[in-house]
Amino acid sequence: MRHHGEGYVDGIDYDHGLYRELSPAQIAFSLLLKGYRPPVVGPEGFHYAELGAGHADTSSLLAAVYPHAGFDAVDINASHIAAAHRFAKDACPGNLRLLEESFAEFAKRSDAAYDIIALHGVWSWVSAETRAILLDIVGRTLKPGGVLFLSYNALPGKAAQMDIRKILLEHSLAGTGDWPDRIGKALSFVERVVQQGARDRPETAGLVAEVERLKQRSANYIAHEYLNRDWTAFYAGDVARELTKAKLSYAAPGLMSDELGIMALPAESSALTEEADPVYRETLRDILMNRGFRRDLFVKGAERLSARERSEWLGAMRFALLVPPGDMPQAIVTSGGRLQLQKALAEPLIAALDEGPRRLDELAAMPSLAEHGWQAILQGLTLMIGTSHVAPALDEADEAACLDSVARFNAVVLEHGRMGGELRHLASPVLGNGVAVTKLDALFLLARSRGVDPVVFASDQLSALGQTIGDGTGKPLSADQRIALLREHERSFSTTRLPMLRKHRIA
Ligand SMILES: C[S@@+](CC[C@H](N)C(=O)[O-])C[C@H]1O[C@@H](n2cnc3c(N)ncnc32)[C@H](O)[C@@H]1O
Repeated sequence: MRHHGEGYVDGIDYDHGLYRELSPAQIAFSLLLKGYRPPVVGPEGFHYAELGAGHADTSSLLAAVYPHAGFDAVDINASHIAAAHRFAKDACPGNLRLLEESFAEFAKRSDAAYDIIALHGVWSWVSAETRAILLDIVGRTLKPGGVLFLSYNALPGKAAQMDIRKILLEHSLAGTGDWPDRIGKALSFVERVVQQGARDRPETAGLVAEVERLKQRSANYIAHEYLNRDWTAFYAGDVARELTKAKLSYAAPGLMSDELGIMALPAESSALTEEADPVYRETLRDILMNRGFRRDLFVKGAERLSARERSEWLGAMRFALLVPPGDMPQAIVTSGGRLQLQKALAEPLIAALDEGPRRLDELAAMPSLAEHGWQAILQGLTLMIGTSHVAPALDEADEAACLDSVARFNAVVLEHGRMGGELRHLASPVLGNGVAVTKLDALFLLARSRGVDPVVFASDQLSALGQTIGDGTGKPLSADQRIALLREHERSFSTTRLPMLRKHRIA
């Protein structure tokens, strides 16, 4: 088993994936909601760094939707950066620098000044020395007013998983064979241990569910999550205190669904946190909700907006529907409890957004919504953003500015998919963000762009990739059955998902 000098796993690549919460539009909304001035990310350009970027899937998509900005993606893993280079050469407009470097090497030479730095999936998985290097980079290179997105394993929710991690690590270290083989065997052993543990100590039964979850994940994910030399979960307050060394203070949740958990906390629980200072309050909330993962936004030189500035910024922001109108749930289950979406507000709000992206001020002026008031509409939007049914959108000028770069990016993603590539997100110039598509939908889209029959095209491409379609009992479908099934899928794609992709100007 190999680790880089700095203790991080080597020899097995991380999964592909897009983290929508890293988009400047989402970050700006979260900060504004809490009354902080977001970094300026308009057409005049800004500078963004992703440290520990993996395959740089998120950075490369953001480079396409913000062609006037500059992106630096740093990663120690040569195989990640090599693949990212190959992809970005064709897909990105030349504003993404891919740096195959350790954080220590990057720290020595970096003199750039960033508006946004993202550290996603890194902080808990590196040593204290590496965190000190990261803190130094952030402290020196984040501009005053800049924002850090930081995710990490949190206490108390992650504490229970320390047992799983310990067994996975020891078992993989002692094992033989390649990574996936060792991980498969270690996971089977962990399963036996936690099942036995649950029989002897019913209070550990939750670990069985965690092992079940891990069985659905790839060996690549498990290696990067659990098999680094370091794996530390933190109390939110301790992380916030550490970051004051880089002049950063906690500002806002980095993911709106986390905010919903807090909104849903029962009044008695919220009352227990009222006396606490804002940072200690976060720790108390985590304890009350047993949270195990956090995504936080920290700002350097936390500048508060006046109430008037905040409402002007938010009022001018556009919002877009992410899903067809019928898909919006009434009740929302969060880590803090249930929230109810008021039908009287939700229905006209969704109907208005179904016509296209709208500014908050525009929504508040609509006859169908005016009676609810600006504040209640903002709250409704916040709930729908938290459930990923609505998203902040780019303004018209930024949308127009990225049409060409997004079209190029999406064409490359679709072609990669045809060749068996694992990227599953297309960029939307409306959202300034990515939208997930299935492998099949990606083939249907590619066929349409080529003007050929989507069903025949998808069938041929799947065959070329060696993919059969089963009848549910393990028997492959005949050629006719396969075409009939794909035709059904295509019909459903054309009537449900395609109209949404058109609204997002992806198709
Ligand atoms: C779990 S992955 C997260 C990737 C990406 N941020 C994401 O969320 O998809 C962590 C990444 O950090 C990189 N990394 C870990 N230690 C590093 C170091 N000391 N210097 C540079 N990169 C490092 C790893 O190679 C890996 O790609």
